[in-house]
Amino acid sequence: MKRRLILIGCGVVGQGFLRILVDKEEVLRDKYGFEPVLVGVSDMLKGSIMKQEGLDIPSFLAHVEEGGKIDEFPTEGGVTGLSSVETIREAEADIMVEVTYTDIETGEPAATHMFEAFMSRMSVATTNKGPVTLQFEELRKLARENNVQFRFEGVVLSGTPVFNLLEYCLAGNDIIEVKGILNGTTNFMLMKMEEEGMFYRDALALAQELGYAEADPTADVEGFDALAKILMLSNLVLGGDLKPRDVERVGISGISTSDVQMAKSEGKRYKLIGHARKVGRRVIASVKPVKLPLSDPLAGVNGTANALTFKTDLSGEITIQGAGAGKIETGFAVLIDVLNIHREM
Ligand code: HSE
Repeated sequence: MKRRLILIGCGVVGQGFLRILVDKEEVLRDKYGFEPVLVGVSDMLKGSIMKQEGLDIPSFLAHVEEGGKIDEFPTEGGVTGLSSVETIREAEADIMVEVTYTDIETGEPAATHMFEAFMSRMSVATTNKGPVTLQFEELRKLARENNVQFRFEGVVLSGTPVFNLLEYCLAGNDIIEVKGILNGTTNFMLMKMEEEGMFYRDALALAQELGYAEADPTADVEGFDALAKILMLSNLVLGGDLKPRDVERVGISGISTSDVQMAKSEGKRYKLIGHARKVGRRVIASVKPVKLPLSDPLAGVNGTANALTFKTDLSGEITIQGAGAGKIETGFAVLIDVLNIHREM
């Protein structure tokens, strides 16, 4: 079945998603009955294009992968020059993929895009942590009122399933506690400090050089990125109503190589752990470096991998491990959501 999509944000994740649509076109159609019609694309830096009959996805992707501007994509009948909000209002799409940059202080412009999409009766698939952290309840309410879906698999652990795992595979379980490694940069740094005795600043420089850390790595090393993720898990999975200030936050900038080596000699390993648990009707959450015994499944999670342990009432503890970032991995998170929207439409 044909599904009309718009893509708002055409950077790494947007292009990763389009790459999967191109490479898996046949299987998506034959196995899942999903035929995407890309009716609009808008990006703050690259311009916008709208075409009601749908863009040719392989040639559009090749154009942007070569660094071409979106509004310079040669196609007959393409309308250019619309703002992102105009694109959403005029495209008459079924699904909006919102993968613009994350602003964790305001949630904008992504939140506005999502409000507009829901008011236009469009479902949303996003990887944007901003609105899911800050405007979640209003967005969910508006989506329900308009009888459309709001999905956000990629906001935590990119393409390693979390929300879909809970919704489908762990349905019926009460989740009592969640703890995990939610930031790849700091996990990589701690590993280098332990295995190679690297100094903190050198480990950080290497993480930056390899493209793991953000350009301004404060969000990684001071725990803000992990805080946003444990906050979403606290509120969306454990049913809390926490604000960022309610989460205790300690980054890894106070951890030295000798601290890490000392832990090693005790048979332990430092990890930056996001932790949230139900205590009566409250949810308590924190992000801080913890010395884990090597027997803890989270202690064995190395490199930039992320992992989460769910404590459930019916299935005990379940730990998942996988990528927490990456172009195709995060593009895949969007695909899971888009396919589920397609199935349930
Ligand atoms: N900078 C983040 C990390 C990317 O290192 O995990 C994913 O949010």
